[in-house]
Amino acid sequence: MTKLPFQIKDISLSEFGRKEIDIAENEMPGLISVRKKYGPLKILKGSRIAGCIHMTVQTAVLIETLIELGAQVQWSSSNHLSTQDHAAAAIASKGIAVYAWKGQTKEEFDWCIEQTLYFQDGEPINMIIDEGSDLTSLVIEKHPKILNQLKGITQGSYNGINYLTKLYREKRLKVPTININDSITKSKFDNFYGCGESLVDGIKSATNIIIAGKVITIAGYGNVGKGCAKQLSKLGARILITEIDPINALQASMDGHQVLTMDDAAPISNIFITTTGCPNIISSDHFKLMKNDSILCNLGHLNTEIDINWLNNNSIKKDSIKFDLVDRYTLIKNNNNNNNNNNNNNNNNNNNNNNNNNNNNNNNNNNNNNNNNSNKDYSDNSNKNNNNNDNDDKSYNLIVLSKGNAININGNGGHPSFIMSISFCNHVFSQISLCVENYVLKYSPGIHILQKSFDEEIARLHLNHVGAKLTVLTPVQCNYLAIDKNGTYKPSFYRY
Ligand SMILES: NC(=O)c1ccc[n+]([C@@H]2O[C@H](COP(=O)([O-])OP(=O)(O)OC[C@H]3O[C@@H](n4cnc5c(N)ncnc54)[C@H](O)[C@@H]3O)[C@@H](O)[C@H]2O)c1
Repeated sequence: MTKLPFQIKDISLSEFGRKEIDIAENEMPGLISVRKKYGPLKILKGSRIAGCIHMTVQTAVLIETLIELGAQVQWSSSNHLSTQDHAAAAIASKGIAVYAWKGQTKEEFDWCIEQTLYFQDGEPINMIIDEGSDLTSLVIEKHPKILNQLKGITQGSYNGINYLTKLYREKRLKVPTININDSITKSKFDNFYGCGESLVDGIKSATNIIIAGKVITIAGYGNVGKGCAKQLSKLGARILITEIDPINALQASMDGHQVLTMDDAAPISNIFITTTGCPNIISSDHFKLMKNDSILCNLGHLNTEIDINWLNNNSIKKDSIKFDLVDRYTLIKNNNNNNNNNNNNNNNNNNNNNNNNNNNNNNNNNNNNNNNNSNKDYSDNSNKNNNNNDNDDKSYNLIVLSKGNAININGNGGHPSFIMSISFCNHVFSQISLCVENYVLKYSPGIHILQKSFDEEIARLHLNHVGAKLTVLTPVQCNYLAIDKNGTYKPSFYRY
């Protein structure tokens, strides 16, 4: 069967896409500098790249940069909801093989990735750019012929790296891989500044809710969680953190946030944000404790942090208010849950309640009541017909954004262009490192971090745009610090 040159939603959107790409280019100084420096050299000539990253306006600038550097490129999106159809149209209208549209089914999503493995001339890819493991795992598990010719993988996401680390431990990773996520210029910028800002934008565009005064629980205090906490605190929210790692928990405490468990946070928060990269963070036991119209959203790579399946199977009503962006679930109240402010007493807890009326004990009792009643027929549909509205005394609502997919990517314009310029420069320098003959011998099969000199170079390429002027070391200072005036400035273990 002949291969389709591209598959997108609507090619007539290409002019709109091109206008947005033009604006984005101005905010992506790193990628534009790379084009100027390496474009004339066609440094990536011979690279046949399949990319699987959210097909957005910013990704379009990356794709066109790779092509200007001499690579052949085919693209799919790393999430079924994240494609900006006008960006895909602009790319397709230039004759670039892109297979992506917003709102794919699982089968369509898989089909799109599969299309990127062989080029029109029948030649397979020899490089991968991935964020998540969908493309990489397809090649590794199902396409051994392609795997044999693969020169390298650049992987941008924490979850993708987890997958590759597992393969490496099983001695099945035969290809050099560069872990972009742990470059300083990725994790300390995209994850921290990018997620923090685009989260706020995502929540507001979905709900128009005011952040000031809200109690917000953030699951995970890694780079993403810290960035979100910083932005939300600035807007006047009170932040609660859940963590498994004592170091991150201590950091959160010393940044002024209360660290507790999801069981404790559920009844007292207005907004919940998952940022862990770990499944099953918010589950049915927590939903049962939450306040009416609590807002739940995720920033982690996978949509498994919030148990959306349980909500789909157990709510008595689901209103999709903005297509794919806001779902309002109506659930039947458990008489003993936190939505019932009467603090009904469980027999086992009568004494406690009678002796002590403080809030904490009331909350504890609520939790206990819920735990004790977790086997109750919470999903009892017998009340279905009685449910008229959110505020009747039998039901309450939970609002889920973007179906549990990353709200900052799917909810609005995604990460800001400037942040994506920094992240994508990591992919480009890594691709150059892995492909170009001069560099290729440095990387054995396994997982590597991009050299610090590139990390510093990427930051340097973005300084002018923010009006920053670097201090240059004097010869005496260089001598004293034992540092070259052009870097590198820090040892590899420095944490920034
Ligand atoms: N949406 C985006 O634009 C975007 C951007 C960057 C990263 N990400 C994703 O965000 C997630 C987090 O990335 P990161 O860079 O912050 O990683 P990180 O490792 O720095 O932070 C994750 C934190 O979650 C904690 N954690 C893990 N399991 C937990 C659990 N069960 N309960 C509470 N805390 C738990 C870890 O201890 C860690 O501190 C990843 O899935 C990553 O792919 C998304």
